Amino acid sequence: MTRPAPKSFHVKSFGCQMNAYDGARMGELLEAEGMAPASVETADLVVLNTCHIRERAAEKVYSDIGRLVKRGGAARPMIAVAGCVAQAEGAEIPRRAPAVDIVVGPQAYHRLPALVRAARDGVALDTDMPAASKFDALPARRRQGPSAFLTVQEGCDKFCTYCVVPYTRGAEVSRPWAQIVAEAQALVEAGAREITLLGQNVNAWRGEDIAGRPQGLDGLIRAIAEIPALARIRYTTSHPNDMSDGLIAAHADIDKLMPFLHLPVQAGSDRILKAMNRSHDTTSYLRLIERVRAIRPDIAISGDFIVGFPGETEVDFEQTLALIRAVGHAQAFSFKYSPRPGTPAATMADPVPDDVADDRLQRLQALINDQQHAFNRNSLGRRTEALIERDGKRPGQRIGKSPWLQSIVVETGAAPGEMLTVDIVAAGPNSLTGAIAQPVAA
Ligand code: 5AD
Ligand code: SF4
Repeated sequence: MTRPAPKSFHVKSFGCQMNAYDGARMGELLEAEGMAPASVETADLVVLNTCHIRERAAEKVYSDIGRLVKRGGAARPMIAVAGCVAQAEGAEIPRRAPAVDIVVGPQAYHRLPALVRAARDGVALDTDMPAASKFDALPARRRQGPSAFLTVQEGCDKFCTYCVVPYTRGAEVSRPWAQIVAEAQALVEAGAREITLLGQNVNAWRGEDIAGRPQGLDGLIRAIAEIPALARIRYTTSHPNDMSDGLIAAHADIDKLMPFLHLPVQAGSDRILKAMNRSHDTTSYLRLIERVRAIRPDIAISGDFIVGFPGETEVDFEQTLALIRAVGHAQAFSFKYSPRPGTPAATMADPVPDDVADDRLQRLQALINDQQHAFNRNSLGRRTEALIERDGKRPGQRIGKSPWLQSIVVETGAAPGEMLTVDIVAAGPNSLTGAIAQPVAA
């Protein structure tokens, strides 16, 4: 029996910023089809935009499906599973969760409207990685808050032994220069004051400018910096081996490029880095950080860390702590190693017991928290700019971001998108307090 066409939708994105970007684009696509955004409780179509990076993230989708099924009867929405779990598990998903109507991979979601039509008569599945880019088939950007994401590169050729990304997102592909610049312009016209360029290996972006000259990410950043109403540019995530001289230099001479670098190193033991197939070691990483700091001394360094990788000893782990201290990371994301099906590390000998990995994760996070607090305290007394993003907890409060990506709470009625000069008057572990700067008397 053919089901009625859904009139409203809700997209729920898990995981990384690229998923947030994809989720926004899926929403725009469905709106262009005449569907209205709705809450997860009332929508006729719910898109679960999933993450496969660790087991816990991947399993979450099944509890979400369970919750949607409980709505029951006519209220039960059409369910689409998108994102990296869709790519990795494909037809296995409707077998395990028969309530699922659509499975769509991260490179095929421009076909979502057609899949929605097909799903009225039965399960619709598309996990192709087509040669033609999905970006050509997406509608133009229209609505945007002050801080926007823009995917410029997707996929990964590095094959770290723990990671599913090369399998779920495919090989490294760069979007064309003109398409990216046009999207940046559209985002700014729609209200963005800050753009974060996204890619699994964003600094591996390669292309040609409109004159046909070969360019790297630094050239692209320079071109986007020309957009007058754009105030700030960021990029994430970078791989140490793709940090070119040009990109490092960009941190010195492009004012709009923010002093923040998310540069995952994953571990501080060369033996573990080798087993991870990271293709850099701690010495080359430290040298790189030194070069970046020589050009931009105030830059905030961020990273990702995995603890409990197979074979990691207490000594290996202590080397990771030592590296974090040596670099002085201003913030970091850290994870307990999670074996992923199909990756080389999943069958490696010498797994680290769970309680040991838990303990290491706690110790690493305690160190990162201390360093983040210290980094924030260093901002005390500084006059800086806050880009206002949203309302704070209390009336009359707004939350903005510093150039170093710290949250700043400000007592102000300023609207999102305003750039305020503030004096930092308090520094907590997770945020700063800023007071609107009074002009210095002449
Ligand atoms: N287990 C734990 N963490 C992982 N990451 C990637 N794969 C795994 C895994 N199997 C982490 C890495 C990466 C971040 C996005 O997720 O630190 O940089
Ligand atoms: Fe995964 Fe390594 Fe590629 Fe990052 S560089 S996406 S961790 S394989």
